[in-house]
Amino acid sequence: MSTPGTPAARAFRLPSLRPGARGRILSGMRPTGKLHLGNYVGALQNWVAMQGDDYENFHMVADWHALTTGTDRVEEIQSNIYEMVLDWLAAGIDPKASPMFVQSHVKEHAELHLLFSMLITKARLERNPTLKDQVKDLGMEEATISYGHLGYACLQAADILLYRANLVPVGEDQVPHVEITREIARRFNFLYCPDDDPVFPEPEPRLTQFPRLRGLDGGRMSKSVGNTILLSDTPEEIAARVRTAYTDPTRIRKTDPGHPEGCVVWEYHRLFNAGGAEEVARLCRAGELGCVDDKKHMAQIMAERLAPIRQRRLELAKSPDYVWDVLHEGARRARVEAVATMERVRAAMKLVDPKGGGN
Ligand code: TRP
Repeated sequence: MSTPGTPAARAFRLPSLRPGARGRILSGMRPTGKLHLGNYVGALQNWVAMQGDDYENFHMVADWHALTTGTDRVEEIQSNIYEMVLDWLAAGIDPKASPMFVQSHVKEHAELHLLFSMLITKARLERNPTLKDQVKDLGMEEATISYGHLGYACLQAADILLYRANLVPVGEDQVPHVEITREIARRFNFLYCPDDDPVFPEPEPRLTQFPRLRGLDGGRMSKSVGNTILLSDTPEEIAARVRTAYTDPTRIRKTDPGHPEGCVVWEYHRLFNAGGAEEVARLCRAGELGCVDDKKHMAQIMAERLAPIRQRRLELAKSPDYVWDVLHEGARRARVEAVATMERVRAAMKLVDPKGGGN
């Protein structure tokens, strides 16, 4: 499932570039700690598949973004960064080829965010459907939203454009943020750049090929709901978790004919057991395969698929400094790009000290 060349990896098509040109991809995740299977099929697997010669990948941990909705939860941030980046590495992202870094370690994000905040209206940010959904999900009143939270998409635009990225791999919910990023890029180029020398590209979203993976209870897989399978779960943990999966409520006895449609476990079969899924459905419908046995089988398939990731994770965790070394070096490489972009931005906006230096 993680190896390039699997159907999943091939399905993720990257646009071709001018001969000799190299594109840039910026991907980001908020630090949520250990990742689950939904994060994997929805995002991480694509990140791994996108590594290649045509595109240079930057992977960012969006810790400032985490603060927009978790101002009081600063204690968790360091360990969440650590566990998440360990999963990135275990899943097969090569830090030599693709820098990984933490947003707050590259201060230029803040400066670009400030300048971009002048180029977008309050009304436009308030119209952001993703923000509206988030506010609703959190049960917040619109009037209690912070200035920083309102600017969520503006900060994300700074993340992307600081690296002059062409592509942003995201889920459906993030597309409005990439659209806002394009608008800001266009406005900046229009106001401050000659036509033949724009500072920023207009980046495009690259949607994941998979719909959101459902959790064990049939709802969206999400850590806060507790319906997940973690990439780091042991085979025993996976078996115990899959046993709780929601299947077919009309089925009392194993010999009752089952209904794979709507069954989460069958959905997992289609994703992780593509070759065997139809046979499983046939046996289920015929009342020849019970849910208990099917779940055992599925748990085994998942455990086998996740084994290399879990193994690598255990290996990497033996040197606790490794993750922080990777992030330190990643920030250094990211900063080289960030500094170069900011020099162009300041020059374009006439924000330079005529006496030189200072920046
Ligand atoms: N908003 C993204 C999310 O919640 C995380 C993110 C922050 C991001 N900055 C980014 C994603 C830049 C892509 C590019 O998933």
